[in-house]
Parts: sequence; C-alpha cells; structure tokens
Amino acid sequence: MSEARPIKITETILRDAHQSLIATRMPTELMLPIVDKMDKVGYHSVECWGGATFDASLRFLKEDPWDRLRKLRDGFKNTKLQMLFRGQNILGYRPYADDVVDSFVEKSVANGIDIIRIFDCMNDLRNLQEAVNATNRIKAREGRGHAQIALSYTLGDAYTMEYWIDMAKKIEEMGADSICIKDMAGLLVPYKAAELIKEMKAATKLPIQLHTHYTSGVAGMTYLKAVEAGVDVIDCAMSPFAMGTSQPATEVMVETFKGTPYDTGYDQNLLAEIADYFRPYRDECLANGLLNPKVMGVDIKTLLYQVPGGMLSNMVSQLKEQNAEDKYYEVLQEIPRVRKDLGEPPLVTPSSQIVGTQAVFNVLMGERYKMATDQTKDVLRGKYGQTVKPMSQEVIDKVIPGEERITCRPADLISNEMEKLESEMAEWKQQDEDVLSYALFPQVATDFFKYRQAQQEKVDPAQADTKNGAYPV
Ligand code: CO
Repeated sequence: MSEARPIKITETILRDAHQSLIATRMPTELMLPIVDKMDKVGYHSVECWGGATFDASLRFLKEDPWDRLRKLRDGFKNTKLQMLFRGQNILGYRPYADDVVDSFVEKSVANGIDIIRIFDCMNDLRNLQEAVNATNRIKAREGRGHAQIALSYTLGDAYTMEYWIDMAKKIEEMGADSICIKDMAGLLVPYKAAELIKEMKAATKLPIQLHTHYTSGVAGMTYLKAVEAGVDVIDCAMSPFAMGTSQPATEVMVETFKGTPYDTGYDQNLLAEIADYFRPYRDECLANGLLNPKVMGVDIKTLLYQVPGGMLSNMVSQLKEQNAEDKYYEVLQEIPRVRKDLGEPPLVTPSSQIVGTQAVFNVLMGERYKMATDQTKDVLRGKYGQTVKPMSQEVIDKVIPGEERITCRPADLISNEMEKLESEMAEWKQQDEDVLSYALFPQVATDFFKYRQAQQEKVDPAQADTKNGAYPV
C-alpha cells in the first residue's frame, strides 16, 4: 500500500449523536467528567455545540449554552472544538441581520469554538457568506477560527455531479477553509460517495470532510469508500450513541483502518474507557424512553423519503403529542410531496422542520395546505433564499395569494437588529452573550433568564448568616 495518510475523525457524541438519538438532552454535567479522557484521543475535533444544543439547553435543560461552551473549553486543552451554524439562520429558525450573525460568530470563537461548520438549508451560498467573512475577520486578527462550509447533501433532479463540483469551486472562492459534505439522512451510498469525493477533490484544494448518519444502514461502508477516494475527515460517534439515526461508531472506524495507510493511531483502550463511561447513560435513556428504539435500527425507507435523523425523532414526538403515532408512515409519504412544492430544498434544519411540520399539518388536517405555518409562507416568499427548483405555483397561489416574492439575498432586506434586541431584554442581561440567546429564542431565553434569576436569588435558610443579615445567593 501507498504512503501513510492517517484519516482524521471528528467526534460527535457531545452534539449530533445525542441530538439525533435523544432529542439533544445530554446535560453538561454528564459531559464534563469524561472530557479529560476525550481530550487525550487525538481527535481532529470534537463537535460539541450549535445545532439544536443551544435551543435544548435553554428550553429543556435550563442551562446557559454559553456556560456549557466555556466549561468544555476549559476541559479540552488540546482538542479543537467544533460547532454547527445554520448560516444566516445562526442557530435559530429564521434569517437574521448581518450584525447578529457577526456578533454570534465573534462570541462563539471568544468562548472557545475553533471550527465553525456553516450550512444553509437551501444550499444558497449567499446565506453563508457573512458567517464566513466574520470568521475570517477573527482569523486575520487573532489567528484562530476556521470557517467550514457544509453542503447539505440531498438527492433530486437538480443535484447532479456538476452541481456539487460547481459548489465546491464557489466555496473555495468564498474564502472558506474547508468543505463538508453534510449527509443528514444517510442518503450517500458507498460507491456514489467514492465518485463524489474523487470529483470534488479534483475540483478544489480545500480539505473535504464527510458527515453522514447511519439511518439507512450504509454509513460505515460509505466512509470506507470515501476514505479510499481521498476524503480527509469523517464524523463518528462513540459506540453507545452511534448508529441508528446517529453516526458510525468511532471505535469501529478506528479498527477498520488499523494497519492501513489510513490508520488513525487512536488508542482503542482509551476509546473503550470512554465508551464505558457513556454506556450507563445510554441504558438510562433507553429505560426512561428518551432513546426510542424506533430511531436505532436501519430504516431503508429514509432513502425514499430522505428524512434526516433529528427530523425523524422530532416528528415522532410531534405525532405522540397529538396521539397520532399511527400516522407516522402517512406523514413520511407526505414529506417528499411538500418538499417538491417548496422547490426541492435539502431537508435540514430549519427546512426539515418547516417541511416536516407542514407535512404533519397536511396529514392531520385532512386537506393539503388548509393551514400553512408562517415559516412555510416565508419559504414561499423567498425569505429563506433561493431553491434549486421553482416552487409550486398552485401552492403559492393557495398559501400567499397575490403577495410579492423576493429574489435578492434575504438578509439584504433585514436591517441591523442588535440594538433593538438588546433594548428589549436589557433587564435580564448579565453578559453580552445573553443578547444573542434572546435574539435566537426570545420567549425561551426570557423564561430561562427568569429561572436563572430565581435560582440566583434563592436563599438557603441553613446557609443564611442571620447575625450579619447576609444571605448567600
Ligand atoms: Co448530522
């Protein structure tokens, strides 16, 4: 075999793995005791922030996501920390003004992020430029910060090899540091991956990282072929939270490449200790229902419906709330139809949620688009950017009759927001980062701020120093 070309691994157990399997509920206190060991593996990076972790921390775990990031940064002395960033939508579900994007990138790096993986749910590169520029400004100033553009991988008439090659060239021109092919639903099959990686490597000098999910059961083989074809980095999750709708298992991929030119050199004994740490938590999640066996097996139907893991587990819980779990496969079938109506975008947050929720409405209401969400309307208006295919005129006429649609970069129509946002939440502000939490999730963040204040003001009578009238807070 040829000369050594060790494959690099991004570990996802602190972000995507638990987002995909247990609706992003892993708390910070569970992560911290194992950070020391994880830091010794030699990972290319640990993905630990962004995506849904921000929302879930504030909403369900009552944690400050910025505080989680700082604690992880303290623990990981040698490993790069990576986050997932939704382009102009940041970590939220709507497009933001450029000043919010700039500020969020600044604060993310300042609090410990090294690599920002930026994607857009429409693959509209105009929605990614500002986040890349913001990262590059920090890099020029401080020598830290890496802007990775992720292309949301999807299937459909418009998504030809030429499309991906053309995108790779444009990404290089945009000033990004690397490219990720982000296969949210496990749609990239092994031989197709080999072809895609080979063509893209020929088209760009940038390193290429592959991110996929095990949903359709092919992911491990896809990585094998992609590595042989020259991919630089693969995303894996430690075995207790691997496979199913998550990533291939780290230990398995490490073992696969042992003794080959792609050998990672990682210590399997160390990885085993890390797996031992997470396994009881997996059992706990199985016992309390957080980990639903439904998302753990191979679902080959995802190749037909192209539904990413996070979206699947969301959909299951949405249907559960409505006592309509029996509509699971009906909704799965409605999803590709809604996607087509909306111009065939990739299905990734927020387009996945928008398409998924609309599909649930269409099925539960018994009439398609009898009710359309505000976000469906905004997609039809062009506010999320341009889709590769035209949207359905029939649906446009039914949902937003007579309305004007936009074709420019959506953020060009949004004036700076930071000042206004800060004035709205001033009474709760304890750190600059709070303004950004509020920007993304006004209601959820406000509820969290109230909770935080109550916690801080809570007085423990046993600790109270009655003599001096002092109360620990
Ligand atoms: Co993912």
